[in-house]
Amino acid sequence: MVNRSADPTTPLPRFPADFVWGASTAAYQIEGAAEEDGKGPSIWDAFVRRPGAVRDGHTGATACDHYHRFGEDVALMRRLGLDAYRFSVSWPRVLPSGTGRVEPRGLDFYDRLVDALLDAGIEPTPTLFHWDLPQALEDQGGWMSRDTAYRLGEYAAVVAERLGDRVRRWITLNEPFVHMSFGYGFGVHAPGRALLLGAVPVAHHQLLGHGLAVAAIRAAAGPDGTQVLIANNCSPVRLRPDAASEADRLAADAYDTLHNRLFNDPLLTGSYPDLSVYGLSDPSWGGIVRDEDLKVIAAPLDGLGINYYNPSWITAPADPASGLPFDLVEPQETYRRTAFDWPVVPDGLTDLLLGLKARYGEALPPVWITENGCSEPAGLDDAARVDYLAGHVDAVARARAQGVDVRGYFTWSLLDNFEWAEGYHQRFGLVEVDFATQARTPRASFEWYRALIAAQKPQKS
Ligand code: FCB
Repeated sequence: MVNRSADPTTPLPRFPADFVWGASTAAYQIEGAAEEDGKGPSIWDAFVRRPGAVRDGHTGATACDHYHRFGEDVALMRRLGLDAYRFSVSWPRVLPSGTGRVEPRGLDFYDRLVDALLDAGIEPTPTLFHWDLPQALEDQGGWMSRDTAYRLGEYAAVVAERLGDRVRRWITLNEPFVHMSFGYGFGVHAPGRALLLGAVPVAHHQLLGHGLAVAAIRAAAGPDGTQVLIANNCSPVRLRPDAASEADRLAADAYDTLHNRLFNDPLLTGSYPDLSVYGLSDPSWGGIVRDEDLKVIAAPLDGLGINYYNPSWITAPADPASGLPFDLVEPQETYRRTAFDWPVVPDGLTDLLLGLKARYGEALPPVWITENGCSEPAGLDDAARVDYLAGHVDAVARARAQGVDVRGYFTWSLLDNFEWAEGYHQRFGLVEVDFATQARTPRASFEWYRALIAAQKPQKS
């Protein structure tokens, strides 16, 4: 089915002129230069060497070589008409051992990138932590250790002191849920630890680090117009029509608690949801959550970043001995699937946004879609991606029309890049990258997004 907004003869949805249109990337996925200019090793540099960890043994050692080609990439962004660009700062490039000695050449790189973006009229929107923890900190326990939260605060201060005179919008963490569950729960991402529910302290330590980073950014960058956000991966939870018993509903609630509420409630309400279904019935989780931590975590935010890809369908566990109070299942309905086999469900994004407003009310700050996009087969004529983006931009417009204050939309991703455990097999870019030659070629979706942005801002076209 062709989405009506993807049809060039129908008008594109209209957003206010100050709505921010962006694209997102992350350091390990695009920069390459893994051992250059004094950069220390990250957990991803180590993980990709493990046999079988990444499909076909791909690594991000060169990736898109953005470290050397950022000028060309900023020129592409300018052509696209982006208002803002979300990238991440590589912690081990700035602090090779995670703490202590600062590597000036690492900071210089982000300084040059920020200046190039500002010259192109694009707002730099850095994320401080997009999963590439310095290996030296992992060796001391990584996010299972409370100490890592304090190290994030220190690192945030170093970066904000250098860039805070020019960066107005900051993102602390990327998807603490995915980092906890994939990295420490199941071990399919770095650091590759399979602690299952034993990974829950990783949630608290990341959130504490977030709160300390917010304070450090505000102190270094000053109050004038500085905005601090976090980018949470959120997934609306759905029941299958054929599995909607009370047990299924309880399972769905348990999943919602783990994926969504564990990361949104403390930020927006200053308290954790009840985790007794996960065996943590005492509010301190056995001493992990200390007095005053929630005050640090709930420091006011200027915006909540939402990364949305698809809903989650949940049933009661088929095997009660599975150790988890839910099963993640496939939907009964037939949806178009991306190359990653993810179902394409734009109305899930509207539901998610309306659900956040219903749940948090006045406590919900302005929302930013900090990631949304799809993996499609290689090639320039990516009509399926255009259809995906059009459907999801429409979904945002529908939520706005129903009163959700969404201020911006960042698509994932500007470029094809290193897609974690999938290596280079999943292509999310508006721009195709030939990884043998590093040639960049805009796809049809690039032209579609350019036209969409231009239509919202006639003065820019
Ligand atoms: C998100 C990640 C991002 C990218 C997309 C496809 O979970 O934040 O780095 O891998 O998925």
